[in-house]
Amino acid sequence: MANLWARKSAAELLQEAALGDSDAEVHPLKRSLSALNLVAIGIGGIIGAGIFVLTGHAAAANAGPAVTLSFLLGAVACAFAGLCYAEMASTVPISGSAYTYAYATLGELMAWIIGWDLILEYAVGAVTVAIGWSGYVVSFAKDFGLDLPSRLVSSPLSFDDKTHAWSSTGAIFNVPAMLIIVLVTALLVVGIRESARFNGFVVAVKLTVIALFIICTASSVTSANWVTSSNPDGAFIPPNAGPGTYGWSGVIRGAAVVFFAYIGFDAVSATAQEARTPQRDMPIGILGSLVICTVLYVAVGFVLTGIVPFDRLNVPDPIAVGVDAAGVGWLSPLIKLGILFGLTSVILVSLLPQPRIFRAMAHDGLLPPIAAKIHPRFRTPYVSTIGCGIVVAVLAGLLPIGLVGELVSIGTLFAFAVVSIGTLVLRLIEPELIRPFRSPAIWLVAPAGAAISIFLMVSLPLDTWIRLAVWLAVGLVIYFAYGARHSMKANRRSQM
Ligand code: ALA
Repeated sequence: MANLWARKSAAELLQEAALGDSDAEVHPLKRSLSALNLVAIGIGGIIGAGIFVLTGHAAAANAGPAVTLSFLLGAVACAFAGLCYAEMASTVPISGSAYTYAYATLGELMAWIIGWDLILEYAVGAVTVAIGWSGYVVSFAKDFGLDLPSRLVSSPLSFDDKTHAWSSTGAIFNVPAMLIIVLVTALLVVGIRESARFNGFVVAVKLTVIALFIICTASSVTSANWVTSSNPDGAFIPPNAGPGTYGWSGVIRGAAVVFFAYIGFDAVSATAQEARTPQRDMPIGILGSLVICTVLYVAVGFVLTGIVPFDRLNVPDPIAVGVDAAGVGWLSPLIKLGILFGLTSVILVSLLPQPRIFRAMAHDGLLPPIAAKIHPRFRTPYVSTIGCGIVVAVLAGLLPIGLVGELVSIGTLFAFAVVSIGTLVLRLIEPELIRPFRSPAIWLVAPAGAAISIFLMVSLPLDTWIRLAVWLAVGLVIYFAYGARHSMKANRRSQM
């Protein structure tokens, strides 16, 4: 029987990483990513549906013009976890990301749980964004007078949150959502350098679109839109109207909503074995992308609530509403195109870590060895990339978006909490380890990272918790049926 708490020492992990680079591995991953590529991968994964869609809802329903404060709060929460990820990724630069860090600190069972949980962040994240992508394709086509057949562009299933009943919508498949997953999967199989190059181009487009939005609409900002009333919380924050609705509780609920917008910076850590100088560049990629996106998010929140009264922003396309209100409607198609590009890179960066994490898990015997297979020419984990692409494409074609969005947030927050705790544990159990990047004030940063993540998890609905629990229970069954019997640690011990 496997020892559930068996831990891999950092030295063991580093030795594995070195072996991965040597001839011992028949086809190692290719080290081709620069610091700039890593920052672009971070931005590629971060900026997407969150800023382009959720900002409006968080402003209208939760925080009012103080959605800017929600963005700042969300950034602080991510900064703590980001510092921990940066320390871990520079110290143990292995492609398994949070899975690997958990293995080094909390043992095999926790590593499995986190590896399984990360499927929610990355694979289910890709499903969510692909469904959003399809919605934008439909709207973009409509702008050009093209009505795509509704039976082919939406989910055949709908789920009622209140009665928990499934029903049929009459649609067949969400074809655009499936198509984008197939295209991105093909790119990821062909190569990490090709994927990074495409991501760089897409990131440039979406940054340009955001800059255009801010520059072209800034002159229409009216400070009257920010000042909601005189109330004890400050004029910037509308008076509280119930839990999570305006007031400080609304600002905090708004932060939990826009947290989704920050998800993605951690994906950088899964490319540690494809980075040229991971010890130096992992922190640059993780923290650099987080800082750049925070500045942009705060700027967009500020400008958007300055041009449109916040109660008019509860729409699926708040940026387009802002553009119209500022009288620069000509920007609208460009913005939509930028959003389509933006969502494409989020899908790319969500599907990038998943096979790499599966590869690390297969190396440890927790998944079948085939999941670790690297393509001889492309040098990518092609079997798990294709497998993951097929499953994600089918789910994106079938599921309604409401079912999956919050599941991504709760899964990510869980991983953030574990990585934060793990970083502190590693400081305690292996204090002498060389840490090219050390988080400042770790005794404050790591507990705060874990506490804020758990706090935001608690603010998510019970249904989402139940789905997380069911998912983890399925994972445990698989672990005991397969992983615990095949784990390398277990094998090694039984040979001793
Ligand atoms: N942060 C990503 C987005 O907003 C998941 O789409």
